[in-house]
Amino acid sequence: MEEVLARGGNDQLKGKIMATLFFEPSTRTRFSFETAMLRLGGSVISNPDMMATSSLRKMESLIDTGKTVSRMADIIVMRHPEAGTVHELATSSIVPVLNAGDGPAEHPTQALLDVYTIWKEKGRLDGLTIGMVGDLKNGRVPHSQCRLLKHFEVKFVFVSPEALKMPDDIVQELKENSREMRVTENIEEAISEMDVIGMTRVQKERFSSEEEYKKYAGIFVLDVELMKRAKSDAIVIHPLPRVDEISVDVDSDPRAKYFDQVHNGVVLRMALLSKILT
Ligand code: CP
Repeated sequence: MEEVLARGGNDQLKGKIMATLFFEPSTRTRFSFETAMLRLGGSVISNPDMMATSSLRKMESLIDTGKTVSRMADIIVMRHPEAGTVHELATSSIVPVLNAGDGPAEHPTQALLDVYTIWKEKGRLDGLTIGMVGDLKNGRVPHSQCRLLKHFEVKFVFVSPEALKMPDDIVQELKENSREMRVTENIEEAISEMDVIGMTRVQKERFSSEEEYKKYAGIFVLDVELMKRAKSDAIVIHPLPRVDEISVDVDSDPRAKYFDQVHNGVVLRMALLSKILT
């Protein structure tokens, strides 16, 4: 698939239509899905602001929205600020529905591209120590990463304040899969054992108030000084967007892979769309 992308795509999905229904802001995920579909020769119908401009404004339900859009498109990609809503719409859809992020719950295709990035960079998953740093309570990406990586022989190191720790149900899943894990608030000490430094943003939009958010904003910042403590062959990943949790100076460090992830996301989504629609 990387070769197909390098050649500029093909007409594998000519005649197929993907609908992107975004109820929450996005730069990467929507453009990435749309790029993937277009590179495969398919077409896209899109509403990047469903909250403001779709018929939900006229009290139409998500169920009826699913029934309607799935009678026009061959596949639906949806993002929504509330957990479980993508599943809700999918129950009424007659075509596949892909979760592009549902509130603080899950972001499965981001996790897939993260795991693809790790495998591409490190050549393996088994035996790696994977760090997840930041807002592990509200960050849907670390949740989905855990649900994928629990199937591999990896060690998890969770770095967060107690109030933003990884949810208990996910920790329980990792235990049931006999995964080794360590929980700490000390990134200076923990970073040296990580093969993968997975940074995440404090999810401002999930906090009840600005005051509450400010208690945690800027709590972990990966900068050039901190990178001196990291392994020479570690990689830094981040789903983006970033706020201040990775200093811009780190971008030129060859271990920084977060913009390479954007390319990997297109490739991964091309593979996914191809698999589902052919
Ligand atoms: N990684 C990610 O979900 O980015 P966007 O919010 O820009 O789609």
